[in-house]
Amino acid sequence: MKKKILYIGLLGLGTVGEGVAELLLKRKNKIKNYEFVLKSIVVKHLHKKRNISFPSNLLTSDFRKVLKDEEINTIIEVIGGIRPAKEIIIEALERKKNVITANKMLLAEAGSQIFKKAQENNCYLGVRASNIASYRLIESLSSSPSEIKKLVGIFNGTCNYILTEMERRKKDFSFILKEAQRRGYTEKDPSNDIDGYDTAHKLAVLLGLTSGYFPPLHSFLIEGIRRISYEDILFTKELGYRIKLLAIARRDNDRLEIRVHPALISRNKAISRLEGVENGIEIQDEVGVEIGMQAPGAGKYPTATAILEDLISIAKGRKITPPSDKKEVNLKKIEEVVTRYYLRFEALDKPGVLSEISGILGKYNISIQAVLQKGEKKERGKESVPVIMLTHKAREKDIQKALGEIRELSVIKEEPLLIRVEEGIF
Ligand code: HSE
Repeated sequence: MKKKILYIGLLGLGTVGEGVAELLLKRKNKIKNYEFVLKSIVVKHLHKKRNISFPSNLLTSDFRKVLKDEEINTIIEVIGGIRPAKEIIIEALERKKNVITANKMLLAEAGSQIFKKAQENNCYLGVRASNIASYRLIESLSSSPSEIKKLVGIFNGTCNYILTEMERRKKDFSFILKEAQRRGYTEKDPSNDIDGYDTAHKLAVLLGLTSGYFPPLHSFLIEGIRRISYEDILFTKELGYRIKLLAIARRDNDRLEIRVHPALISRNKAISRLEGVENGIEIQDEVGVEIGMQAPGAGKYPTATAILEDLISIAKGRKITPPSDKKEVNLKKIEEVVTRYYLRFEALDKPGVLSEISGILGKYNISIQAVLQKGEKKERGKESVPVIMLTHKAREKDIQKALGEIRELSVIKEEPLLIRVEEGIF
């Protein structure tokens, strides 16, 4: 059988780009019947010191060179961000080049447009690396006859690593974040990870690929993990929970509820036990079938491997299946969500404080399930102590009104922290 050759232009040589280059250079002759030739690598800084050495003619700082090179039939985009990635991808497709991208931010924003362009030009668009932990599930969901009823996922390796290591090593958020950056888990701008945007991009891409509807980011709640302290990890542990940054989607009759935020999840649930950069997803469909999977969600080789899988799909002549046409979607507003809440107040330690807080909660019909008060103000070097409350089910609208009044009390010394409780699936 005649060997198929893919001539590849790689755009970006950060952690993932380096992994792809390394795998391609090491393994190009080991994949039967295909040959992957890495012809050009586009970098920002030509003379930067790198972990692997490349023949000097491989590197260029001009992406136009790769777009204009007619021999290059496949480009791999791992530069991230919207500009210039979007223009490069569109032009590559117009020039009939296959495209593989890890760019979930771009796919969340312009997924429908890019898939359409790929289809019009009869090119392959590989997006496995944009959702490395769940793309295998996405592939099977896309061909499932049933719609998703509920989805709960951990989609960000950095946040899961931070939350796991805070608990394991009894450290604060910023210390572990620096380590995640050193390990190459974070996005170029780590606020994308820790403020929940990366999770939101992946959720939007997953929904887009499986249902045709790419929800715009401004249409749903996105909160990150910056405000979670080591103390919160300890308190939630005492209450029988772990904190995880979750992506949640739930169909409620004709409405779709979508949200991304840290959540307390019982330590008995499978998803609460995912550690480090491990990601996971649990899905219940409309007829009650439950499926799930776990896989690493960040890192050089897991992402580079997803890209290589797309290269193999191209070599095998696989066609893309663009997401189905967008359906009308009625989104449920966050104010209407009903759930339980973990609340942390930094309050003065004096008589009457608890009754002031619980009086306001009671006024809004919010019932308290558990209360914890910990620590001495002296040992914390603060004038306040943390007061933790776990509520029964309440409406988001009511809890926000109550917090609005509680934060104005003179005994409250910091912005209250609210974390929603999630029941999970398995
Ligand atoms: N920064 C991402 C994460 C990498 O931490 O999950 C993979 O998308």
